[in-house]
Amino acid sequence: MKEQLAKIRAEALAAFSSAQTAAELDALRVQYLGKKGELTAVLKQMGRLSAEERPVMGQLANEVRAALEQALEEMGSKLEEAALDAQLKAETVDVTIPGNVQKIGHKHPMYIALDEIKDIFVGMGFTVLDGPEIELASYNFDKLNAEEGHPSRDWSDTFYFDKDSRVMLRSQTSPMQVRAMETMELPIRIIAPGRVYRKDEVDATHSPMFHQVEGMVIDKGVTMADLKGTLNTVIEKLYGEGTITRFRPHHFPFTEPSCEMDIQCHKCGGHGCPTCKGEGWIEVLGAGMIHPNVLRMSGIDPEEYSGWAFGMGLERMAMGRFKIADLRLIFENDVRFLEQF
Ligand code: PHE
Repeated sequence: MKEQLAKIRAEALAAFSSAQTAAELDALRVQYLGKKGELTAVLKQMGRLSAEERPVMGQLANEVRAALEQALEEMGSKLEEAALDAQLKAETVDVTIPGNVQKIGHKHPMYIALDEIKDIFVGMGFTVLDGPEIELASYNFDKLNAEEGHPSRDWSDTFYFDKDSRVMLRSQTSPMQVRAMETMELPIRIIAPGRVYRKDEVDATHSPMFHQVEGMVIDKGVTMADLKGTLNTVIEKLYGEGTITRFRPHHFPFTEPSCEMDIQCHKCGGHGCPTCKGEGWIEVLGAGMIHPNVLRMSGIDPEEYSGWAFGMGLERMAMGRFKIADLRLIFENDVRFLEQF
């Protein structure tokens, strides 16, 4: 029996130390120390021993059990540690590897210019309005004092949706003047940026779709001097102090008197170049004092209130702001162009 115990001890210790996983080790524990295990089988034979031999063998058996249990425990924690090590190695993150760079876009130069324009007007107490690009001819023309027969209503100028010429792509942001007058309390100070559409051929300064920023003020005692002062302030804030503007008489059905404002050409400083078509000046907006008929049609008494309005070409403002020579670049969306802003 003594030899049997020694053999179990030697075999079990050897087996334990060669176990590769916790599961393997557990199977060995059952094999040697379990209820039907080898050591238990030996102990069951104790009954056959003499009274003198029994305590000696009993003690020896206990020693073997204790040795095996200790070896199991040691091997168990060794395997656990090894498993943890392997896991850590497998899950290692190398924080020094550069990440995948995400390309983030940025604002289009025209919208940079628009944000600057909005900021300037909001700072002066104006509200920013948004309006429909698909507009009723009554708002785009009639209520702006351009009745049936006005040349700007011609089919060759305007995109209509129906043969009665009632619904159209707005040709200007000026219908927002009427929408503001009809819905807002006086006094009114608004700007209304957005897209407009005309049957224009594409060239360096024209596109059938472009953007305008409409502006309007209505209050008691408003004059043309307020219009000029406001616009000159805005232009200087956008283009820098000392930027030269000029106001020329013009005609719009919905303003009286009317004018156009030019800025001195940013490319040539007024000498004349392809960008300004040799004129030295670039037209950036139309403006004027709101026609009494327009005020009256929207329910405002022209004896009590007066107002001014302007409509500026946003692309031209952006071209001046960023010294862009050709309008087409703004819509082509070539990243090599856009990345410069
Ligand atoms: N709507 C005019 C245009 O598109 C510009 C304008 C706006 C003129 C407001 C006077 C007042 O040319």
